[in-house]
Amino acid sequence: MKCVGVESTAHTFSVGVVDGDRVLSIESSMYVPSEGGIHPREAADHHAREARGVLDRAMSSAGVGWEDVELVAFSQGPGLGPCLRVGATMARAMSASLGVPLVGVNHCVAHLEIGTAVTGATDPVLLYASGGNTQVIAFSNGRYRVFGETLDIGIGNMLDKFAREMGIPFPGGPRLEELARDTGEMVSLPYSVKGMDVAFSGILTAALSLREKGISLEVLSNSIQETCFAMLVEVAERAMAHTGKEEILLGGGVAANRRLQEMCDIMAGERGARCFVPPRNLLVDNGAMIAVTGVRMYRAGVVTPLENSGVRQRFRTDEVEVVWR
Ligand code: ATP
Ligand code: FE2
Repeated sequence: MKCVGVESTAHTFSVGVVDGDRVLSIESSMYVPSEGGIHPREAADHHAREARGVLDRAMSSAGVGWEDVELVAFSQGPGLGPCLRVGATMARAMSASLGVPLVGVNHCVAHLEIGTAVTGATDPVLLYASGGNTQVIAFSNGRYRVFGETLDIGIGNMLDKFAREMGIPFPGGPRLEELARDTGEMVSLPYSVKGMDVAFSGILTAALSLREKGISLEVLSNSIQETCFAMLVEVAERAMAHTGKEEILLGGGVAANRRLQEMCDIMAGERGARCFVPPRNLLVDNGAMIAVTGVRMYRAGVVTPLENSGVRQRFRTDEVEVVWR
């Protein structure tokens, strides 16, 4: 079943074309703030400007004609309202003009579905670590439950903010990873796991003040990574123990980090479990994950009528009834 998926929750506007679980194309355009953090209106303007071009490129690189499209899926939330509305508007228009059904997809759930579509993981605990989101998610009793999450900002957001203070442009995560690789040294930062949840803003404050005291950028980058990733791995491991699941799956842009991948792999190995990492273009926000999830939902009987297709900025992972499993 050929489906066009539209993603526009935050920085990235992306369209993916899939045939069932098979990804045919992904085309994206990323909004990069001129200074400071993401500005929702500016990001939405960027998405609106880029939408048509991205869609056309995705269709032509998939080699799919409009007449072949059987379903349109879009990211309904969670995310920034103005950004979400651009994607939703385009998806509604496509669905109406092609006369094909529309499916609204939860963005966090889509990170898990694409992982199971491409890695061979079947029933994983998902460690979803991106700019705006940090959650540990697993299937239990008909829904994807959030076993742990950030109590303040997303981990990528923290990395980007630290980088920005150091004069490193967005996105800062990849550059901090390179800097961290240049040293084996680390300093102590506040390790903050509360129950199954994590928090990052205290670590950011502490790292910034250590920088003022002259600790090198390399050592701080390494310390931030080691501390934050250990927190994530701890919570993910506890979710695996609690649910009895033997797979960990990574999702989100921060999961492109080799050190995080390595730590998850070691943890899984020690438990006799397996660690799965999708390719980078499917870890970051992309339209194909929305399309793959849309197809799975539609095949289980889910459609989103126009009157229910409004965007949901605070769409919770566990609000979705997972009828397709
Ligand atoms: P979401 O809406 O899912 O929160 P997002 O807009 O933050 O999405 P993603 O594309 O999933 O988007 O992730 C981008 C984040 O990933 C940025 O914060 C970036 O710094 C971080 N990142 C990318 N590569 C790396 C890396 N190698 N190491 C650490 N962080 C990384
Ligand atoms: Fe995401």
